[in-house]
Amino acid sequence: MRAVDLIHKKRDGGELSAAELNFLIQGYSKDEVPDYQMSAFAMAVFFRGMTAAETAALTLAIAESGDQVDLTPIAGIKVDKHSTGGVGDKTTLILAALAASAGVPVAKMSGRGLGHTGGTIDKLESIPGFRTELAREAFINQVNTIGLSVIGQSGDLAPADKKLYGLRDVTATVESIPLIASSVMSKKIAAGADAIVLDVKAGSGAFMKTVEDAEALASAMVEIGTQVGRVTSAVISDMDQPLGYAIGNALEVMEAIETLKGKGPHDLTELCLTLGAHMIVLGGKAADIAEAKQILKQKLENGEALAKFAELISAQGGNPAVLEQTELLPQAALTVEVTAEEGGYVGSIQAEQLGLAAMLLGAGRATKEAQIDYAVGLVLRKKVGDAVAAGESLATLHVSSNNATVQEVAERVRKAFGIVSSVPAPKPLLLSIVT
Ligand code: URA
Repeated sequence: MRAVDLIHKKRDGGELSAAELNFLIQGYSKDEVPDYQMSAFAMAVFFRGMTAAETAALTLAIAESGDQVDLTPIAGIKVDKHSTGGVGDKTTLILAALAASAGVPVAKMSGRGLGHTGGTIDKLESIPGFRTELAREAFINQVNTIGLSVIGQSGDLAPADKKLYGLRDVTATVESIPLIASSVMSKKIAAGADAIVLDVKAGSGAFMKTVEDAEALASAMVEIGTQVGRVTSAVISDMDQPLGYAIGNALEVMEAIETLKGKGPHDLTELCLTLGAHMIVLGGKAADIAEAKQILKQKLENGEALAKFAELISAQGGNPAVLEQTELLPQAALTVEVTAEEGGYVGSIQAEQLGLAAMLLGAGRATKEAQIDYAVGLVLRKKVGDAVAAGESLATLHVSSNNATVQEVAERVRKAFGIVSSVPAPKPLLLSIVT
């Protein structure tokens, strides 16, 4: 087999076999297929697309390029959850505890943030003492003992994806549905779960800007799951404005704690109940979504979900006192209000701009090596549909000092709010479900 012939075949709209896709991915992993051929292949896929069978075969080839986590020593149906990335998205912190409190074992590997979206691992590490690196055996034992563990992704999970994603990033081939779907699902499959719930975001703060594109991506990922025997459901939710109010690591942990106490923002709570319901249905702990939501609401009301989060924190070396004394979390030195120049209603909020603003304050990484400040970020005071008076606060910045960068960030945040003169039509948070 020769890579050039396979590129030729895809360029002309042909369908590659599993053996041919394996040849390309294995060859690329071993540096036998060079970057320039893989770039040409990615561009051919970008223009020609892939059939469902090709996408599934590519996903498996990538999943098999490295370590594959064996979760079989954990009893029960292990359900993983993945978000395609949004601003203020702290759902994993809440969902892991919520699903585990309903009896679904959660053995989760999460990532760090890069660019305008945050990472679960950074958020957890803002809890004093919390360890996100556990040996595989300790990880499995913890799930068997308390029902959940959340750790950082091991370096060798789907290494071909890491290499290929880096290449796609510099060859204008990221925005291809089969390539994104296989990239996401290869990591989920290698991480070992039996079933997967996907939170696919659509809107200004998301990868997929339209609901149609988000649905196409969700369908491609659900189809991969079906083809490889991992039951997968996808919930498409709005990311035209940030989820909840807090953006920034410790600030998001505080909001997650409030949500686990049943006092969280409506949108965040609603999304967690929906994603959690899909998790516990796939995990065999509820017959349908309506019953699952009832169970989860009860877990929030009776404190069991919060207690599960406390167990997670203690088991991984953190201080569970943060649940009652959030001042034990890192605190920024000062706050700066971003005020509205004119009155009216908030018609839109550019989520991506707020994600970038939080990153510029130090809450996220512009480069992989950058250090983050757990305490900084911003808290929205207004969301879409809210009335605002001139001079009223739109958002509070949490900063380490008030310098020229903070003033620039404040201006960016102000401009991210679109103020209109009449109440905007309400937009639903949950846009569709793909199963
Ligand atoms: N996220 C991924 O993991 N892969 C992609 O290709 C795009 C977003």
